[in-house]
Amino acid sequence: MSAGLAAELREELAALRADGALKEMREIASPQGPEVRFADGGEAICLCSNDYLGLAADPAVVAAAAAGLRDYGAGTASVRFICGLFTPHAELERDLAAFLGTERAVTYTSCWNANQALLDTLCDERTWVLSDELNHASIIDGIRLARPGGKAIYAHADAGSLEAELDRVPADARCLVVTDGVFSMEGDLAPLPEIVALCEARGATLIVDDSHGLGVLGPTGRGTAEHFGLADRVDITTGTLGKTLGGAAGGFVAAGAEVCSILEQRSRAQLFSNGLPQSVACGARAALAALRDDPGRLRRLRANVARFRAGVSAAGLEPLDGESAIVPIIVGETRDAIAMSDSLLERGVFAIGFGYPVVPEGTARVRAQMSAALGDEQVDRAVAAFAAVAEERGLA
Ligand SMILES: Cc1ncc(COP(=O)(O)O)c(C=O)c1O
Repeated sequence: MSAGLAAELREELAALRADGALKEMREIASPQGPEVRFADGGEAICLCSNDYLGLAADPAVVAAAAAGLRDYGAGTASVRFICGLFTPHAELERDLAAFLGTERAVTYTSCWNANQALLDTLCDERTWVLSDELNHASIIDGIRLARPGGKAIYAHADAGSLEAELDRVPADARCLVVTDGVFSMEGDLAPLPEIVALCEARGATLIVDDSHGLGVLGPTGRGTAEHFGLADRVDITTGTLGKTLGGAAGGFVAAGAEVCSILEQRSRAQLFSNGLPQSVACGARAALAALRDDPGRLRRLRANVARFRAGVSAAGLEPLDGESAIVPIIVGETRDAIAMSDSLLERGVFAIGFGYPVVPEGTARVRAQMSAALGDEQVDRAVAAFAAVAEERGLA
């Protein structure tokens, strides 16, 4: 690397540090779980993983992944269409499709890849994509990469704004509307009843990324569409295996047979990149079985969300409203969010502060995420830490 580039990067890092916006990575020496142990000593209640149902270190999930490793080896050593499609992939895809009520599902090594692959494959020069302004970065980048004939960004969770953009779409366009089910930084939900009605009226195809809704929302944990009673009216669902479904890695597209078949045939992440390691598919399948067969986890998660929200509200904090397991507390500037996160950690609570560019400038926040693995005592300890930090920082 040239000395000039290294000097420029050092300057950029120094500016981040001077701004109080440098992210410190904390090395964890234990499994993911309700409490984690750091490599440099110390333990904390973990409120920043996406392990919503507490399945990342669940013995049945770990045993299934270990059996997959033993039975199928370390990985596929091939892309899917050459010799990279194994029985664990086929079984997981069948289970995902059955769970979500779609004809088929196709797995990827991440939901980032799944979103990019889907958008890239479905877009051509006569395609229009309409996207919520707060959609996940993988959707934003996916649209950029796909270069559709037309695109529009509608105001966050605003069906009126979507309708206005739909009015601009040419009648003969292939129209895709894409939204997160649960927005990861806000914890709020897409207004699916209005969006579904608009898509059906205009003949648009609706894509919902339900990475934070799956295993969290809906009477049986099938996600945001089930929450609204619309499980059979979303055309294409994408999701991650890296959150509720075992937390390892991987993503999927669940949809009709034509969509999944064309993805297999055409999507570049499928054609030029290895399949999901078989052990990961086995672990995710066991996690999906736990979600399907053990409704107690979902009840526990919801009880924890209610307990935490009530606790921090009673302490004078005002978390953003929402029905998901994400509870964001806005503090304003990035440096304040990072400082609050540091103070929480000193009190044994691990909750990350997010600032620009992850969230819009001036809306930096500490985001707490609940898990079914947390016990009442841990939730209460976390609330007490938030209350103490809020008082100390004059937030309550
Ligand atoms: C809404 C949403 N979509 C996609 C992703 C990407 O998932 P993965 O980690 O499987 O690439 C995330 C992860 O942060 C997400 O929150």
